[in-house]
Amino acid sequence: MSRTYHLTTFGCQMNEHDSERMAGMLDQLGYRRVDARDDADVILFNTCSIRESADNRFIGHLGEAKRLKKEHPDRVIGVGGCWSQSLKDEVFERFPFVDVAFGPGQIPKLAEYLLSDSLSAQMGYFDFESVSGSLPMRREREFQAWMQISQGCNCVCAYCIVPSTRGRGMSRPAAELVAEAERLAADGVKEVTLLGQNVNSYGRDLRPRVAFSELLAMIDAVTGIERIRYTSPHPKDMREDVIRAHAELPSLCEHIHLPLQSGSSKLLKRMRRTYTRERYLDRVAMIRDLVPDCGLTTDIIVGFPGETDEDFEQTLSLADEVEYDGAFTFAFSPRRGTEAATPPDQVPHEVKIARLQRVVEVIQRRAHERAQRFVGRTLEVLVEGESRTDPTRVRGRTT
Ligand code: 5AD
Ligand code: SF4
Repeated sequence: MSRTYHLTTFGCQMNEHDSERMAGMLDQLGYRRVDARDDADVILFNTCSIRESADNRFIGHLGEAKRLKKEHPDRVIGVGGCWSQSLKDEVFERFPFVDVAFGPGQIPKLAEYLLSDSLSAQMGYFDFESVSGSLPMRREREFQAWMQISQGCNCVCAYCIVPSTRGRGMSRPAAELVAEAERLAADGVKEVTLLGQNVNSYGRDLRPRVAFSELLAMIDAVTGIERIRYTSPHPKDMREDVIRAHAELPSLCEHIHLPLQSGSSKLLKRMRRTYTRERYLDRVAMIRDLVPDCGLTTDIIVGFPGETDEDFEQTLSLADEVEYDGAFTFAFSPRRGTEAATPPDQVPHEVKIARLQRVVEVIQRRAHERAQRFVGRTLEVLVEGESRTDPTRVRGRTT
């Protein structure tokens, strides 16, 4: 009988994609995926550490893994991803029942570990290596695929743990990505989402340099790929060529996720975002001008250290002015090893929660108003599956 595995994924799309690679690798090794954790010989977690809540959610699951390991000590417990990377060998000290731990850059090492004879020794793999595009992957959806165009991040945002968990930014060669898009198209994929921690800084490290807008044009030219999405860009790198591409390239979707974080220039500076409120609004104006119907979404953090009522009002007024179609809103969560974890002017929890409620109210009201632009129009939708609330209906997205 073939050996079995169970895999639980936390965190962002990059992690979902990494999990597809883990699954693809395990399939190749002859492992079979099972839906119940207690049926599995290998229990895997692909973890996230972006906020404290992500840590806590995962640690609850670890308790069950501990119990299952006790029942069958020959079970393998593996923990990959950002949480693992941020703790490194401490993982084994704190959770002695974990057999193998590895960072996001070390997925291939999981196969090496499972094939080794020394399954009884604990192993940790935490180096940063270059992106390996050639890993097999097991896609979750037939018509949609993720493509990792770069790895790591060169930003130093004061709140963010990711640069320490995913290493320095590195782009994959454009020719390799085009070939991957062609393979995916041949396999029936219609929509690709380009992934990177800072997608629009793509290609600056390549020789010759390739601009992100050029990569978009190359993938747009691949027959069969009807939709291209990407996430996440950085406002500081959002230039006219990329915005124009949304108007000009037939397959580039009319949606831009442009993480704001704060509407106060003072706070943006403390966050080390390297743009101001004015510069951000200027990008938005260019988007509205060149791609009037473009969907615009964002990420907002409230309660970053030193955020005053006045700073917060600036976030509210910006959200009101921009009229986002949606936003992910977060209460600031201090992360180990980051610059913003230590300043004494932390914002009290109750203040964060109250601010969160107020910003969510503005976002939702404006999004609802802006959604009215679609009433009465007929638009093309790529069906993604059943409606979550009514299985007799389908769910999908416009471009
Ligand atoms: N606390 C709260 N939110 C955070 N984000 C990143 N780090 C933190 C943190 N320490 C948010 C940012 C980012 C999104 C992915 O998560 O808004 O854009
Ligand atoms: Fe993704 Fe960030 Fe979570 Fe890592 S820490 S899985 S990069 S959201």
